[in-house]
Amino acid sequence: MTKLGVNIDHSATLREARYRETPADSKIVIEPSPLQIALAAERGGADSITAHLREDRRHMRDSDVFALRENISTKLNLEMSCAEEILKIALKVRPDYVCLVPENRREVTTEGGLDVKSNFDTIKRCVESLSEIGTKVSIFIDPDASQIEFAAKAGAPMVELHTGAYANAWGNSEALNMELERISEAAKFGEILSLTINSGHGINYKNLEGLLSAAKFNELNIGHSIISRALIVGMEKAVSEMKSLISHYGG
Ligand code: PXP
Repeated sequence: MTKLGVNIDHSATLREARYRETPADSKIVIEPSPLQIALAAERGGADSITAHLREDRRHMRDSDVFALRENISTKLNLEMSCAEEILKIALKVRPDYVCLVPENRREVTTEGGLDVKSNFDTIKRCVESLSEIGTKVSIFIDPDASQIEFAAKAGAPMVELHTGAYANAWGNSEALNMELERISEAAKFGEILSLTINSGHGINYKNLEGLLSAAKFNELNIGHSIISRALIVGMEKAVSEMKSLISHYGG
């Protein structure tokens, strides 16, 4: 069955909205706790927990990532850029998976896939360093054949196809079908190159069905829609509902 990776960055976004200047070891109550959210996601059936340690520390802090590493019982997927500073931390954390993403300080969220072709040497070195400690590396790319080819050349065993354009096409059936076709072709090409295929970004309880009809994925990485739903029904239920839908739609 297609696995569900739950991205909990936005629980940290909520915390930082109030406690950005408060150190993690302060005596005052700092909430919400991304670790508690991760544990609730696991109770709801999450197969892995994703956290993005950004260079600007907009949401996740270094201490969150170490706390997740020590306390979760599923897999830890660290999202990161190839910046030296972050790579050093990742090598200490030893996550099960890393997803390499582009980073731009002005973006609201990760906006496009990584351009593997233009940043090939840096990415290849980053993949090599992480692979040496046993971390399975994925590269977040647009569903594009040449990016897939370069991701494989860089030595990544896994890619995450960027589904943002698909999500943004909601309501426009022509654009939606075009995006599904791109995702389907990209997934097929990745499989030919023996890559593990994940997908993520903008996936929600409504657009999941179409996405699962386009390709068979190893894992979906979902954050915003689950955290949003959790505000209404709680984290455990928001995750278990998503898991049930994945199964229902044959993922
Ligand atoms: N995958 C990657 C690589 C991402 O950068 C993000 C957003 O942080 C996600 C998945 C999750 O996207 P969303 O929050 O829209 O579900």
